[in-house]
Amino acid sequence: MNKNRKSRVSLKRVLDPPGPKAKDWVKRDKRVLSPCNRPYYYPFVVEKGSGCVIEDVDGNEYIDFNSGLGAMNVGHCHPEVVKAICDQAKRLLHYSYTDFYYRYSVELAEKLNKITPGVFQKKVFLSGSGAESIEAFAKVARWHSQRPMFIAYTGAFHGRSMGALSFTASSTVQKARYFPTMPGVVHVPYAYCYRCPYKLTFPDCNYWCVDFIEDYVLKKFVPPEEVAATLIEPIQGEGGYVVPPKDYHRRLKKLYDKYGILYAVDEVQSGMGRTGKWCAIEHFGVVPDIVCMSKALGGGISLGATIGREEIFDWKAGSHCTTLGGTPVACQASLATMRIIEKEKLKENAVKQGQYAMKRLNEWKDEYEIVGDVRGKGLMIGVEIVKDKKTKAPDGDTAHEIIERAWKKGLVAIGAGECSFRIAPPLVITRDLMDAGLDMLEESIKEVTRKK
Ligand SMILES: Cc1ncc(COP(=O)(O)O)c(C=O)c1O
Repeated sequence: MNKNRKSRVSLKRVLDPPGPKAKDWVKRDKRVLSPCNRPYYYPFVVEKGSGCVIEDVDGNEYIDFNSGLGAMNVGHCHPEVVKAICDQAKRLLHYSYTDFYYRYSVELAEKLNKITPGVFQKKVFLSGSGAESIEAFAKVARWHSQRPMFIAYTGAFHGRSMGALSFTASSTVQKARYFPTMPGVVHVPYAYCYRCPYKLTFPDCNYWCVDFIEDYVLKKFVPPEEVAATLIEPIQGEGGYVVPPKDYHRRLKKLYDKYGILYAVDEVQSGMGRTGKWCAIEHFGVVPDIVCMSKALGGGISLGATIGREEIFDWKAGSHCTTLGGTPVACQASLATMRIIEKEKLKENAVKQGQYAMKRLNEWKDEYEIVGDVRGKGLMIGVEIVKDKKTKAPDGDTAHEIIERAWKKGLVAIGAGECSFRIAPPLVITRDLMDAGLDMLEESIKEVTRKK
């Protein structure tokens, strides 16, 4: 920690969390809510939020490095989003854009046409969640191509519905007892260079993970003419905030183009300005055929979107549909969110604050034996915790202890992958809040290091 820097952030701290009200709500939650949620997080009971600060039910304030699982890119309760929601709620809540017509969904689809990569006409299917945006992708890709197979990646997270789950491959707990999922998805290793699945080193590997797909998968057991699409996260989220090397997507796209295989990107977490661009794939100079979006797209209201080249969406009426996808309130919240991202230059702020955070985090990498890797783009940053730098043995318990200790100090952050944690605050974060949050994480790293 920079000893000369004095935090200019003062958070309201009433008592050590969890306080009595939080404990009581957790007890009541456990009695009535399904236990499949929250595998290991601390008992944080949220009451309200504003910008980058959230408050628990006992009155403690916290800096948010999690953005409500990546959904609150413009910060909590941004007045313009709240106004758009309230105004729309007074006008019309629902009638279904899939059977009738709304101007709200048209405006949103027009905007999505503009902000997603590629200057060609696109079509949009609006739904209610990230998983649904993946379901629509899988169905439209099969419909259009009349091919049954897909290629996905180890470490991927694409959601939990049976179709989306069949693409997900970041942890077996997400899949245990659910097989058979949708058949036809083959997984290949993602370019996770810190832990290369082939035990090779970049750049000497010369992108073997791409060549492998052609030399082994497409030549030996998945006929390419039967593959509809590949689905990939430009930067893996749940799998550990893994940033692939610069040329990875370009090489993959070239390979799949050769066989007429569609390139679909899951921007559910990485989109909406999080990495400093509307879509993270833009960092890699690739124009995808299909883009799936959700989370921050709805500004806190359920919304998913599957956006693709016009000619791909040639399915006929009735072949896919939804009742509560793309509600007027969700569309207005989304349009307001995008206006704010533009007006307040939040993509630019994501780059600025992200660069600053990376500078500090890289210092940690030099200073602390347990900080194995630091990687990210914009405000999608992962810190990987290891037992030691030489063996790189994953240390998920320590990663968890660090974020739990930081929570007690006033920071909300969550894990990713086996042993990483995320730095993914709302894009409105200031330098002071970033520093204060990083200070809490660094102090926690020092504490666990001292204990060892
Ligand atoms: C990259 C990615 N895709 C899809 C999903 C699924 O989204 P949802 O939880 O809204 O179904 C998530 C959720 O974390 C995600 O991170």
